[in-house]
Amino acid sequence: MMSEQKLPADIREHIDHWLLRYPPEQKRSGVFEALRVVQERNGGSLTTEWMDAVADYLGIPHIAVYEVATFYSMYFLHPVGRRVIDVCNNVSCALNGADEIVGHLKKRLNIDVNETTTDGKFTLREVECLGACTAAPVCQIGKKYYEHLTIEKMDEILNHGE
Ligand code: FES
Repeated sequence: MMSEQKLPADIREHIDHWLLRYPPEQKRSGVFEALRVVQERNGGSLTTEWMDAVADYLGIPHIAVYEVATFYSMYFLHPVGRRVIDVCNNVSCALNGADEIVGHLKKRLNIDVNETTTDGKFTLREVECLGACTAAPVCQIGKKYYEHLTIEKMDEILNHGE
């Protein structure tokens, strides 16, 4: 069944352009980019309606899109702050003080993990290894990695973007 939500023309064009990179039978390859632009358009997170619209446009099952959206941490299924702070909590980072960083962030932002500040500026998450273990502890905000974190460094990062 077609969803209520339809993709706007400019997004459809963007996806079409993107799909030119792939053979016609590999329409699924467009899911990642389609979800990225849709998420951006929707203010930083995805809804079922938008995911269904992507699936309908690509002609693939809705579930296939949900699977991608729930598996990859760059997609958000709930509204998030303008800056999402992903702090790695895997072994190297945990051994090098990731807990203190998270504790400090919780206190300073007055939120828990997986929550967003009331002003909508920040969302805090704990994530699996970000692949920069030698620079532990590490966090990612948007596309940028911040390494060898300390509480002071974290404060500077927050002050910079506030
Ligand atoms: S353990 Fe934190 S980046 Fe790998």
